[in-house]
Amino acid sequence: MDALIAEKVTSGYGRSPIVRDVSITVAAGMITAIVGPNGAGKSTFAKTLAGILRPTSGKIVVNDTDITHVAGHLIPRYGLAYVPQNDNVFRTLTVRENLEVGGYASKKDPRTRMSEIFEIFPDLARADDKKAGNLSGGQQNLLAMARALMAEPTVIVLDEPTAGLSPAYTDVVWRQVELIAKQGTAVLVIEQNVERALTHAQFVNVLVAGANHVHGPVDEIAKLDLGGIFLGRDQTAQDLPADI
Ligand SMILES: Nc1ncnc2c1ncn2[C@@H]1O[C@H](COP(=O)(O)OP(=O)(O)OP(=O)(O)O)[C@@H](O)[C@H]1O
Ligand SMILES: [Mg+2]
Repeated sequence: MDALIAEKVTSGYGRSPIVRDVSITVAAGMITAIVGPNGAGKSTFAKTLAGILRPTSGKIVVNDTDITHVAGHLIPRYGLAYVPQNDNVFRTLTVRENLEVGGYASKKDPRTRMSEIFEIFPDLARADDKKAGNLSGGQQNLLAMARALMAEPTVIVLDEPTAGLSPAYTDVVWRQVELIAKQGTAVLVIEQNVERALTHAQFVNVLVAGANHVHGPVDEIAKLDLGGIFLGRDQTAQDLPADI
């Protein structure tokens, strides 16, 4: 079953839309990646899923519930968690306090959930009393992910969780993302690095200039001339069958 279905979503900041008619599905336990050049509208799309921006048309469904018109602050209760690209932790709060904030929507006792989270993220357990602002960039991104997971979401949307990280820490973060999916969460991850997306995701969507150009299983996408597609030469896309 698809935990997240976005259907022909159009949204933007003013009158002219940035993202046009973008459709995407993410299944439980799977990693779906969105790749695309800078300014393609990836973050705009993610913000729309999270209810920070209102779509002007289209539909967003989480676990069979239409959340298109649900207020952004209520969306976590429907099972969708969102981790923004920047400023994703409370820097003056400790690791533990950040997790407590994330636990407000938790169905379990937040303390029980926190121990589970610390098992998944041993790096954070070791730093539980540190102020988030004193963590490395990579640890901050892990904390942002962990905080979102406190509410036990069925869908998690991660906007470039490895941006600016060293290759070694990028590995760490991807390992965590894979673990989250393995535990049954539907993961939608925005990734600048195409190779990484092809390595870790099962499905890839290519977003160029606000439109979803191609999408499909990773082995099909890997065969395409993604460089050309990024530059807007989407001849290849037109030659593909509709479901690719
Ligand atoms: N708050 C905003 N107000 C108005 N326009 C915005 C705003 N944020 C982004 N944009 C514009 O929307 C377009 C898409 O930006 P967006 O951040 O969604 O792209 P992106 O694919 O996430 O890029 P990147 O890879 O750099 O993160 C850009 O032209 C950008 O200038
Ligand atoms: Mg972005």
